[in-house]
Amino acid sequence: MTCRVVVLLSGRGSNFQAIVEAQLPIEIVAVISNRPHAAGLDTARARGLTTVALDHTALPDRETFDALLADEIERHHPDLVVLAGYMRILSAAFIARFEGRLLNIHPSLLPMFPGLKTHERALAEGVKIHGCTVHFVTADLDHGPIVIQAAVPVRADDTPDTLAARVLQQEHRIYPQAVRWFAEGRLVKNHGHVNLKDDLTSQSVFSIGM
Ligand code: GAR
Repeated sequence: MTCRVVVLLSGRGSNFQAIVEAQLPIEIVAVISNRPHAAGLDTARARGLTTVALDHTALPDRETFDALLADEIERHHPDLVVLAGYMRILSAAFIARFEGRLLNIHPSLLPMFPGLKTHERALAEGVKIHGCTVHFVTADLDHGPIVIQAAVPVRADDTPDTLAARVLQQEHRIYPQAVRWFAEGRLVKNHGHVNLKDDLTSQSVFSIGM
C-alpha cells in the first residue's frame, strides 16, 4: 500500500518540493500551512495537490490550534506527517497523537544548535562543520531520534546566507531519502535510536556535501 503523507509547512516549501520531485513511493494527500500565504501552498496547488490553510493567528492559543490542526491531518489518514519548514512549536498533545509517524528537518547537526538562527550561531561558535538533520519528533524540542544527517564545511568567508544555502542543498538530498526509507518500512527504532534495516555499516545515514 502506498504511504500516505501529509506535509506541514510555513513558508517557501523548498524541502516539500524536493520531496515531490524525488518521485518517492508515496502519495502526498494534503499540504497544510499555518500561514495562508505560504509560497509552499502555491507550489502544492500548481501540482494539483490538496491544500489547507489554517491561520494560527485566528485561534486563541496553541492547544486549540494544534487540536484543530491534528483533526484536519487525521481527516487525510496519513501514515506519515512531514514537517517541511513548519515554524511553530507543537504542543505535547499534538506530538502524542502522531509520535512515530512525525518527521522534521532541522538546519543543524543536532544535538548542536536546536532552535532558531542555527547558521548565525554556528558561525558565532566558529565550528568548522555544520549541516542538517532529519529526526522523529518527540516532546523534547529538536531532540528526537535521528534518522539521517549531512555535513558541510564552514568556510572562512561564509555569511549566514551562504552557509544556509550550502546546508539547504543537503536538506534537499536527505529529506527525500528519509521519507523513502520510512515509506519502505526500513526505519527501525532501537532503544530510542533509529537504525536502517539492512545497513550494517550505517554509511548511508551520513553524507558529506561541499
Ligand atoms: C529549512 O532550512 C528547514 O531546515 C528549516 O526551515 C527551512 C525551511 O525551508 N526548519 C527549521 O528551522 C525547523 N526548526 P523550506 O520552506 O524552503 O523547506
